Formats: sequence, C-alpha cells, structure tokens
Amino acid sequence: MRAVSETLRLALVGCGAICDWHRRGLGHVPEIEITAAVDPDLARAQRVADETGARAFGSLDEAIDAGGFEAVDLMLPHDLHEPVAVRALEAGLHVLLEKPMASTPEACDRILAAAAGAPGVFMVAENAQYWPEVRIAADLIREGAIGDLVTAEVHLFLPPMPAFYGGDRPWRFDAEKTGGGITIDTGSHYIRPLRMWLGEIDEVVAAMERTYAGMQGESLARALFRFRSGHVATFSMMLTDAPIGRQDMFRISGTQGEIQIGAGVRLVDAEHPHQGVRVREDEPQGYLESYAGQFRDFARAVREGAALEAGPEVALGELRTALAMARSAESGRWEKVW
Ligand SMILES: NC(=O)c1ccc[n+]([C@@H]2O[C@H](COP(=O)([O-])OP(=O)(O)OC[C@H]3O[C@@H](n4cnc5c(N)ncnc54)[C@H](O)[C@@H]3O)[C@@H](O)[C@H]2O)c1
Repeated sequence: MRAVSETLRLALVGCGAICDWHRRGLGHVPEIEITAAVDPDLARAQRVADETGARAFGSLDEAIDAGGFEAVDLMLPHDLHEPVAVRALEAGLHVLLEKPMASTPEACDRILAAAAGAPGVFMVAENAQYWPEVRIAADLIREGAIGDLVTAEVHLFLPPMPAFYGGDRPWRFDAEKTGGGITIDTGSHYIRPLRMWLGEIDEVVAAMERTYAGMQGESLARALFRFRSGHVATFSMMLTDAPIGRQDMFRISGTQGEIQIGAGVRLVDAEHPHQGVRVREDEPQGYLESYAGQFRDFARAVREGAALEAGPEVALGELRTALAMARSAESGRWEKVW
C-alpha cells in the first residue's frame, strides 16, 4: 500500500454538481486535504482549485503524472465509472467512487476484480449509510421503540434541482449514460435505508412511467419490495415540475408504533399517538450532513486499515434492486433481485 502522508491527499475527479456537496462534507473532515481538481471542463476544475488551493487538471492521467495525492473521489456520469475507477485502482490509488458502482452487475464485477488486485481501499460512496435521520431510525428500531417491524414505505417526489438537471441536455436524461432513470440514480439513497432497517431485498414488482419531458429513463417509479425476512415495503419516487406538498420520505411501522422521517425524525407510540414526538432534535440532521460521515469512514479505512462500515459489494443491492424494478416494469411480474 502507498505511504500515507499526515493528511490524506485527495483528488476530486469530476467537478460538477455533487462535487460541491462533497466539498461541504470534506469541510468537516480535516484529516483529508484536497490537492487536485480534475475535469475536462477546465473552468470547473479551476474554480475548485481556486477555492481550495488544489492544482487543476484536465484529465486524471495528467493528474496522476503530476502526483501529489494518494486517493481519488470519482464523481462522474455513470458510463464513466468503470473505465476511470479501473484506471485509478491500477494506478495504486485509494478510490472513493460515487454510486452506482456502475450501471450493470457485469461492469461492477470488473471493477471489484480490479479492486481485489489493487493495493488501495475501494469504497462506493452511498452517503445514505451515514444519513443522520436514517441512523437515528435504525437505533430506535434496535431499541424496540416501535416493537417488532411490520412494514415500511419510501415516498419521494422531487423537483429537478438546476445543479443536477440544468443545461441543454443533462446526461441524466440519456439512458445510455445513466443506465436507466430516476431509480438507478437518486433511488439508491432511499433503497439503502430500507436495506439497513429491513435486511436484504429478495424480489420486487414495479411500474415505471416516463412522465418527465425529454428524460429517456423512468421519472416515476412505484414498487413493492419483498425482503428475505418476509417483510414488504413500498417505494414511490417521481421527478416533477409540479408544486409538491409536505411529505414524509420514510415511514416505518411496527407492532407498537411508527417512525416517520420528513422534517426530522418523529416517533409515534402509545405515549405520543397521532402527532408523535420529534426525537434527538439536538443532533445535526439533514441529507447534507451525511457526507462528512462518508469521508470519515473512507479516511479511517485508508489511514488506520479499519473495515468500511459497508463494503463496496453492499452497493450492488441498490443497483440490482433498480434493475429488477426495470425488468418487472417490462414483464409485469415479481422479479428476483439476486
Ligand atoms: N450522493 C448523492 O447524493 C448524489 C447526488 C447526485 C449525483 N450523485 C452521483 O455523482 C456522480 C456525478 O453526478 P453529478 O450530478 O455531479 O454530475 P455532473 O454532470 O454535475 O458532474 C460530472 C462532472 O464530471 C466531469 N467529467 C466528465 N468526464 C470526466 C472525466 N473523464 N474525468 C474527470 N471529469 C469528468 C464533467 O465535466 C462534469 O463536470 C454520479 O455518479 C451521480 O450518480 C450522487
């Protein structure tokens, strides 16, 4: 394994929308230092370089030739995940790769094979693993706050945020580049929590619609998930320009109450029926709070050799669920995830 300097020196590869959210998380993780910013759109790389003191490069190869970092954070359109991740692994770098690992299980297998033969740490960045509200809910379930689990639901209708859907033709609208639609992309952050709470998904049945003009993949997905435990959960997601009302993103129901996650975490139980009670309000919460935990886990694995909280193979579950949903939408039947 490469020598690790005092701080872990990181190259940000792909200085687009998610890069800004990663940088916000990195602001809380002093053990990682950004020393390179890479993007073929040099103005993007230069902006990040100017704001961080890093060096700007137009390609990963140029950055590797220049040196000065042990790790890369790959934030790229999905069709580039495999070639760039394999290049970085073969260069002996520690690799943090945005989800999905790739858009097919075969491409994921090739990346995992490259990682197995490489000296560095390989991690898939599924930030939902570190999402404070999701972890609070996991604690409540473990503590028996809602009794035995019965069922759960995901409900997320989301607007097209300009950072992610702006420009003439965002790559997200291109099924070849994305590998599908909204589920393979944003859906993973809502499937991971269900797997953290309910275990592995066995099979799914889904309907998918193309409701958003110009988007080749599905922009509306409705599905039932059956877990190996026998539990059933529902999953609903839609990209829409229409006004969206208040929504609870997650609802977990047990024999003695419910956990609802919308604005914060609410526990509904015999003591607090109907409206429930907000729990652990004093802790930092919100989706954007998830990234610092992700980078701390990566830094611990690189610097201390610690096991990742969720190894890269875990991310196959979200991808396989999204692909099984797409198959089910075609076949009209339950489809196995694994
Ligand atoms: N964790 C989350 O919450 C979350 C949210 C959105 C996106 N993502 C993921 O982040 C990744 C990037 O998405 P995005 O929305 O930031 O996309 P984006 O289009 O905003 O940014 C991608 C950037 O990569 C650059 N690029 C293209 N080819 C490159 C190459 N060969 N080397 C270096 N840079 C290159 C592009 O010029 C662009 O600036 C995807 O995997 C996506 O699924 C994660």
